[in-house]
Parts: sequence; C-alpha cells; structure tokens
Amino acid sequence: MKQTTITTHPNIALIKYWGKRDENLFLPTKSSLSVGIEALSTTTTISSSPTEQDIITINGKPAEEKHAQPILDFLNFFRTSQPVPKESLCVQTSNSFPTAAGLASSASGFAALALALNKFFNLGLSKQELSILARQGSGSACRSLFDGFVLWNRGEKENGSDSFATQIYPAAHWPTLRIIIVIVAPDAKKTSSRSAMKNSVATSPMYKKWIEESEKNLVLMRQAITDKNFDLVGKLAEEDCLGMHATAHTSNPPVNFWTPATHTIMELVKKLRTDHNISCYFTIDAGPNVKILCQEADVQNILAQLETTPGVVNSIVSKIA
Ligand code: PMV
Repeated sequence: MKQTTITTHPNIALIKYWGKRDENLFLPTKSSLSVGIEALSTTTTISSSPTEQDIITINGKPAEEKHAQPILDFLNFFRTSQPVPKESLCVQTSNSFPTAAGLASSASGFAALALALNKFFNLGLSKQELSILARQGSGSACRSLFDGFVLWNRGEKENGSDSFATQIYPAAHWPTLRIIIVIVAPDAKKTSSRSAMKNSVATSPMYKKWIEESEKNLVLMRQAITDKNFDLVGKLAEEDCLGMHATAHTSNPPVNFWTPATHTIMELVKKLRTDHNISCYFTIDAGPNVKILCQEADVQNILAQLETTPGVVNSIVSKIA
C-alpha cells in the first residue's frame, strides 16, 4: 500500500504572530519570527483510506472531533486547491510531546501534513508554496516548513501569495542557543489560539499598541540574532510575549492561558537573572507551559533550579532544529 511519512518540528516564536487581517486566508496582522525546536517532533503518515471517509488518528487513537475537524478541513482545502484525485485518505499523526497544550503541535502538525500530501501525490511543490498552504491550516505552521531562524513575512497582497515563511539563518548560525521547555500542565488547553487571537484583535484596547511595538521589536530582533546578542534576543522575546498575553488578558471576555505554575517559572527566570547572574529569558505561547531561552553553558544550572521548583512536570532541553 502506498504511504508517505514525514517528520517536522514545532517552532517557538520570539516575535509572535497573534491576530489575522484576513480570517479566511490566515493572513497575519504583522510579521513574526521563530526558531525550530529540535527536541520535539510530529510524525505524520498518509495512506489511502480503506473507506469512503477520511480517517484521522492522533497519537494512535481516533481523533476527537475538535482535533479532527481542522485536519479534515485542511484535506478538503488541499483537494480543492491542488490537482489531486478526490480519494479519501488516512492521516496518522503522532507527537513526541503533549498535544494542543501550547507547545505548537498545530504548527508541526500542519507543516507535516502539507509536506506529506505533497510527497504522497508527487506534486513537486516548493517550500514557499507549501508554506502558503500550511499557513491555511494553522498560521504558525508556515514557519515549521523551515529549520533554524525563520521569518514569516506578513505580506501585502490581498490573495496572500506573498505571506509565507523563509529561513533567515540556519541553526548552525548559533549552535550554543538552547530552549528549555518547561511543562507545567500537559493537558490540552481550553481556549484555542485561533479564537483567542480573534478576540484580542476585536476587543483588546492594547492590541494596536502591541502591534506597533512588536513591529519595531522584529527589526531589533533580526539584528540581535545576526549579532548573536543573547541578552537582547531574550529581552525582546520576553517583552513581545508579555505584550501578546496582555492583549489576551485585556480582551472581552479576558483570556488567560497561565496557571500559578506559569507565574512561578516566570518569577524563577527573573530570579535566576538577578540573584544568580544566569542569563535566561522566558517566552510563552497560547498555553501554560514556559520556554526558557538560554545558552548551553547555563543549562545544567537552570535544570537544577527547575528540579526543586514546585509545579514543574517535566523539562526538555532543546537545540534549535
Ligand atoms: O498558528 P496558531 O493558530 O496555533 O497560533 C499560534 C500563536 C502563537 O503560538 C501564540 C504565536 C506564534 O507566533 O506561534
């Protein structure tokens, strides 16, 4: 039986994507910048379905409707936008990490799906074309097509043909950079990033201000990455994350992805800087888990502190994918 398997990595945004200027085409309000997370991965296998229905399994079990539906929608979108036979498919996807817990499983998931469909149907699409397609499964997925340091350019065109990701540096540009993924709650989050960001755009009085700051910070971030200026990269990433979450906290109804353990880790990171002279910074996506940006030389010291911190379920150290 013909089948195709692809593995991708999630990414973590240092300058966030949060909000769309076109909901149907998944066009972002502004550009964003991320790094790939080598230690986490999604593996997706596509084969022909033995029935007339598409079959979706996640982590070895039939997917719950709320997780299956976006994948089914993407398959239908793919069938209408690409010259492929209208056959039903079996999509088996598994994550090496908690699914839908703000660890970007949708980014690696839709990137893997786009790549696997391209290979399964032998379409020969370019990474740029696949980035545009993956974007329409989950915005951040367009960045998981690439390794290293990745920019998702907002684009200007109404049809979205210039809104795709590109690699700005490979991982080898900065081999000592590390991300510690601190899992405080492995359960799936209650509010999807899709609905929460829509709510921020529509109702947060802070949204416009954050966009302005974030656009400026993106320029500074690119230069800081070029210069390998770790403290500036960390400071900008932390600022951007806090700004993004502020728009969620101030939306109506307010959305809060953090738990008490999230706050504990944020405080720990600040304490490591001030009291222990360890240079590290946090960033958080649409979930309670925290990613700590640090340098290779500080990893063991930070892990030792995390081991004795209440609320930490697991800490995973990663290089840039
Ligand atoms: O791609 P989505 O719809 O899961 O949104 C991702 C949003 C954040 O992870 C919070 C930020 C980002 O740029 O990845």
